[in-house]
Amino acid sequence: MENISIQLEKVFGFIPKEEIYGYAAKCETAQEMLHQGTGKGNDFLGWLNLPGSISEEFLNDVLATAEGLRKKCEVVVVAGIGGSYLGAKAVIDALSNTFSWMQNDGNPKVLFAGHNISEDYLAELMALLQTKSFGIINISKSGTTTETALAFRLLKTLLEEKVGKEEAKTRIVAITDAKRGALRTLSTQEGYKTYVIPDNVGGRYSVLTPVGLLPIAVAGFDIKQFVAGAVAMEKQCAASFEENPAALYAATRNALYAQGKKIEILVNYHPKLHFVSEWWKQLYGESEGKENKGLFPASVDLTTDLHSMGQWIQQGERTIFETVISITQPKETVVIPHDEENLDGLNFLAGKRVDQVNKMAELGTQIAHVDGGVPNLKIVLPELNEYYIGQLLYFFEKGCGISGYVLGINPFDQPGVEDYKKNMFALLEKPGYEEASAAIRKRL
Ligand code: PA5
Repeated sequence: MENISIQLEKVFGFIPKEEIYGYAAKCETAQEMLHQGTGKGNDFLGWLNLPGSISEEFLNDVLATAEGLRKKCEVVVVAGIGGSYLGAKAVIDALSNTFSWMQNDGNPKVLFAGHNISEDYLAELMALLQTKSFGIINISKSGTTTETALAFRLLKTLLEEKVGKEEAKTRIVAITDAKRGALRTLSTQEGYKTYVIPDNVGGRYSVLTPVGLLPIAVAGFDIKQFVAGAVAMEKQCAASFEENPAALYAATRNALYAQGKKIEILVNYHPKLHFVSEWWKQLYGESEGKENKGLFPASVDLTTDLHSMGQWIQQGERTIFETVISITQPKETVVIPHDEENLDGLNFLAGKRVDQVNKMAELGTQIAHVDGGVPNLKIVLPELNEYYIGQLLYFFEKGCGISGYVLGINPFDQPGVEDYKKNMFALLEKPGYEEASAAIRKRL
């Protein structure tokens, strides 16, 4: 099977190919630092060789757990935030029928909680769950994240009220650290089935651990193909610079950044990919945005957003470039019918597939944006399926590791995320925060 590919031709008009390829040595060094574990954050490199190390036996265990939930539950709620939810959400949305939430297709609906603290969201979710048989996958590496723990407390209480404590235990799976954290303690005490998030895999690089695999399997998708795709990309991204799509991507975005392009916009032409962009934004934003550096990761869904953000992209401040995810072959076929009266004037499209129109929109937009001063990278997926999504996500992970090292930061920590938590705990008067509470109250 062919691999996903990266096309850079529409960048060369802005930065000559030689200049981008001039980053080869830096990318090779970054690649070496990753593989030899000599760079910053080297205790978080477990994701690097992860796909190839996943055993059939382990995947069968995840599938068996998923099957247990699938048999009992109409709805499975995944409680998690950041890296503990976005990967699963991205893959499930990308592979699902857009309207599956309206249909009974034999699969449980996978819903998400613990990624916000909205009282309305939680109340509405719990009202829905009152009427459904449901289970919970609680995901938190630290086991102490407030959003997730709060949602889990509510969901667990509801489930126990509905089915009793003993039955609830068979419908709850916890995915967390091997030893540390409140979720580990709680799971041991309650006797939940658990999976471990390896110590050396950070949240946003964890989609190929049970964090992503279990919810994706519960939704009915082929996790073996997903992993197989990632394995193929792991091999491809170990190649030398010119054959390594992740290195080419890292080189190009660093070259553009050095030239004053401060914002990278990830573009798709299929709304199913919306959450792939959300996952990508977290991966790159949290990995690179530090030490007052880093491209700002933004995203648009086209052609939808051409009617909102299109104007800005075409003619706003020239500090942007685009990375387009292009799908060669859609799953479905819709042919535009001929209309005798042709009142809408669309007969010039009759007999064409909708995707032909979408592809011309994609091409026309690329030409317009390049003409407007927006460099354009393209990542081509032959199809949207488990195998190629597995490739895509690993490609982005590897690209992020290389890119972060070329930028000179630690792509595996997130020190800035703590600041809001400290203030929130101080405002909520969490025990241990007395001094911070007094200090912050004075500032209100
Ligand atoms: O990438 C990360 O490390 C973060 O986004 C975490 O995934 C997120 O903060 C959730 O953390 P936890 O899994 O510990 O609840």
